[in-house]
Amino acid sequence: MEVQHQHNLQPYNTFGLQVFAKHFVEVTQLEELKEALLLAKELDTTPFFLGGGSNVLLCNDLNQLVILNKIEGIDIVLEKEEEIHLKILSGNNWHDTVIQCINNNWGGIENMSLIPGSVGAAPMQNIGAYGVELKDVFIELEALNLHTLQLETFDKKACEFGYRESVFKRALKGKYFIYSVTLKLSTANHQLHTSYGAIQDQLAMLNKTSQDYTIKEVSDAVIQIRKSKLPDPKELGNSGSFFKNPVITNNHFEALSKQFPDIKGYPVEQGTKVPAGWLIEKRGWKGKKIGNTGSHAHQALVLVNYGEAKGNEVYQLAQDIIADIFNTFQIQLEPEVNIIS
Ligand code: EPU
Repeated sequence: MEVQHQHNLQPYNTFGLQVFAKHFVEVTQLEELKEALLLAKELDTTPFFLGGGSNVLLCNDLNQLVILNKIEGIDIVLEKEEEIHLKILSGNNWHDTVIQCINNNWGGIENMSLIPGSVGAAPMQNIGAYGVELKDVFIELEALNLHTLQLETFDKKACEFGYRESVFKRALKGKYFIYSVTLKLSTANHQLHTSYGAIQDQLAMLNKTSQDYTIKEVSDAVIQIRKSKLPDPKELGNSGSFFKNPVITNNHFEALSKQFPDIKGYPVEQGTKVPAGWLIEKRGWKGKKIGNTGSHAHQALVLVNYGEAKGNEVYQLAQDIIADIFNTFQIQLEPEVNIIS
């Protein structure tokens, strides 16, 4: 395990921000991770974990030991009838894993193609896209207790999944390292989720009956849609959706509908979910460049780094958007991205 000092984290965060880690190590196995944690203790610093770096905004240099998770591997733990259970180690790249599953005709995660980041980050924020969330295929995960250095198993209930939420972002924040994730996928008779308008439009181009769609075709459709709207972090630094879609009361939504007849909203259990992208676009932020940052021209919910941005600049833009949306719609936007200040 090689320890680096004053290490540039630009290649390891999809915003492409130049931020330096005081100490840095890359770990490829559980034992190395434990060693790194002991080193953090020696250095008297809190470890900071990086996976795919696709959901963080690093505002400043990190005065800590940064541990890059490269613990990779996939194991079949059970195969029966039309079902397969896969234990996937957390350092695996999420999209590569999805493609590997599709190549093996294992279905269930095709709608989450091209989500950047690592497998370990997936349960952390219950990733989701086009009508499917991680929790729909989740069985359990193993996480290393950072205090005892023992692995513990969490089933679906223990993870307390919500919309882009889990117990690891709340009560257990900073207490565990997610080591493996076990998913339940289908090997035949796949249940496809194609109700999203954009997916239907894309699949219709194939001129096939809907029963004949394959998981590969659904994945390709999702990849097409995402590529058309979401900037590729390799070309334009970003972290996907910067904000969550807020949920407001039905009364609030009705009142806003009178003032803004074209506002969009979807009924959910706790009220009405409003697309944050719509709110931000309505206020004229979409495609606007402010210094080295801005809201993306094709998807207002995505904040981007035009090349030389500092984390604090992106943070300031996010604050300005939050304040403007609150003043106009009395809606408090919450970041989806982890802001490290
Ligand atoms: N909209 C606008 N202007 C915009 C963007 C969106 O008006 O610039 C409105 C449109 O009315 C559109 C609606 O927002 O119909 C929803 O837009 P979209 O389908 O693009 O989805 P989203 O709500 O903006 C969410 C997830 C995405 C996920 C898509 C598809 C969140 C915070 N984001 O975005 O996830 O890919 O749905 O399921 O829930 C991510 O988490 O990083 C992410 C990209």
